[in-house]
Amino acid sequence: MTRETEHHPSRDADDRSVGRASAREAEVLVRASGLTKAYELPAETVVAVNAVDLELRRGEFVSLMGPSGSGKTTLLDLIGCLDSITSGSLSVFGRDVSTAGENQLVRLRRGRIGFVFQDFLLLPELTALENVQLPPVFARSPIGRSEAMGLLRRVGLEARASHLPRELSGGERQRVAIARALATSSSLLLADEPTGNLDSRNSEAVYDTLSRLNEEDGLTIVVATHDERLGSLTGRTVRLVDGSVVPS
Ligand SMILES: Nc1ncnc2c1ncn2[C@@H]1O[C@H](COP(=O)(O)OP(=O)(O)OP(=O)(O)O)[C@@H](O)[C@H]1O
Ligand SMILES: [Mg+2]
Repeated sequence: MTRETEHHPSRDADDRSVGRASAREAEVLVRASGLTKAYELPAETVVAVNAVDLELRRGEFVSLMGPSGSGKTTLLDLIGCLDSITSGSLSVFGRDVSTAGENQLVRLRRGRIGFVFQDFLLLPELTALENVQLPPVFARSPIGRSEAMGLLRRVGLEARASHLPRELSGGERQRVAIARALATSSSLLLADEPTGNLDSRNSEAVYDTLSRLNEEDGLTIVVATHDERLGSLTGRTVRLVDGSVVPS
């Protein structure tokens, strides 16, 4: 039995069958209602995410945009079940996150939610292929070399499998990070400023990879970004100001 069939019997077939066009009718993966996250500091309370209502459907490619400090990363972390919510409600894959225990959140994340960060976070002494293979080892569902190669192929980097991160361009490193995120999940990809450290040429390679994963593989993707061009490539932009969604 493969790792895919073990955890998600029908996931891949479902994901592939839903393109962006039909996203409106597709299953709701994330539903936030009045979602609020406040940080209690000694001198003040910072409301980073303020009463956000949001629905994300399978197969969507959505950008979160807004000024620095508007709550994009915080919202992405909440959607990714990395942080607890203060009030309101949030369900992810049909699961009420506000009542789920830490173990349940870890399981939910591990199987289905992949993260990509601005600064790649690749291990410098491991090859591209090994970086892709590593997270599933931690998740106790190791993937084989051929599965990891398949993920590198999906991001167009099969020929760079044996390169160390320092032997890759910035865009290639970010695409390895995307492949690595897909190794532990292929339902929902959350990317925080995926082109934040890249020049325009390297950014193009990341745009292409994300667009292809969404359009061809039906992957649901949410990016937090300042990059207007990336925003324009997504199917929908959610604009945040001071933690609140600006009506479009
Ligand atoms: N752990 C924390 N403790 C206290 N305040 C925090 C914490 N994390 C974020 N904040 C505050 O919450 C607000 C939203 O931060 P967040 O990182 O979500 O913004 P952002 O839109 O991602 O900004 P940027 O574009 O600069 O990445 C900011 O005012 C920030 O200072
Ligand atoms: Mg941020």
